[in-house]
Amino acid sequence: MIKDISDLKAKLEHILISNQGCFKSGKVANYIPALAEVPGDLAGVAVATIDGKLVSAGNGDLPFSIQSISKVFGLVLAMNRLGDELWQRVHMEPSGQPFNSIIQLEWEKGIPRNPVINAGALLVSDVLVSHYSASKLSFVNFMRTLANDDSIHIDHAVYESELEHGSRNAALAYLMKSFGNIEAPIPEVLSHYFTQCSVAMSCEQLARSLLFLANKGKDPINNQTICSRKDTHRVNAILSTSGMYDQSGEFAFSVGLPAKSGVGGGIVAIVPNYGVICAWSPPLNEFGNSVVGMKVVANIAEELGLSIY
Ligand code: DON
Repeated sequence: MIKDISDLKAKLEHILISNQGCFKSGKVANYIPALAEVPGDLAGVAVATIDGKLVSAGNGDLPFSIQSISKVFGLVLAMNRLGDELWQRVHMEPSGQPFNSIIQLEWEKGIPRNPVINAGALLVSDVLVSHYSASKLSFVNFMRTLANDDSIHIDHAVYESELEHGSRNAALAYLMKSFGNIEAPIPEVLSHYFTQCSVAMSCEQLARSLLFLANKGKDPINNQTICSRKDTHRVNAILSTSGMYDQSGEFAFSVGLPAKSGVGGGIVAIVPNYGVICAWSPPLNEFGNSVVGMKVVANIAEELGLSIY
């Protein structure tokens, strides 16, 4: 593993430029209309290390909609609040289904397969709504603290767009409620979930904010404990098996890092004891993962020898 990152910027620029053209084979998400307005040719990357370095290339400083990457942060907050009880309401197995699938949820009596498919993140949102007096504010403040940046905000156009086109998420939430696995009123659960998906952050901010997952639960910059060592292990295990949705097996096979993607085109990958990679490019493949982002993360992991396996 490369410890000296003096030439990392040049490497990131090279990797980004050599993969950027692949964006044409993907499609920008349009089932949330506000996301379809983002230009498909933007692309950025950032690497943050646990010894405090932050290097980026391309549009690495441009905020984008974090979407499902928010599921990682929501999960950490819910684990901290509910402890092991959480795992009676959501499981930790890969789903083998698209991220917004509803079929499995009925077979499995309203218990989502894992916290990073939509059903699981709605369950987590219910926990947050039920255990925080102002869950949305707590979520945004958590992001600001982790990124050490008070400018982080909610993209209200994306929020409204998600709310307007959120029937499938509403169906998932109501189905879980019918099995007694949702406590709060559904509109509040949906509002929290859409809020966390609508947070806008850059690759640089995301990479910085997830360093605790590369450092056994402790933010290495300010030495603050964000979650326990055991929970850090659990989050990374879930990201390894389910973070890239129905492409998680292939990602583990070819890259070998715990990672999470979002339909905004972002991908974060955790490198235990080293740091965090975040790549962004809006056009997605058929699984909902960024085409360019996948290649960029794969190239960085390979060049630096970062696989955990
Ligand atoms: O609920 C949704 O469908 C979106 N707000 C988030 C989905 C997402 O990012 C899935 N990621 N690949």
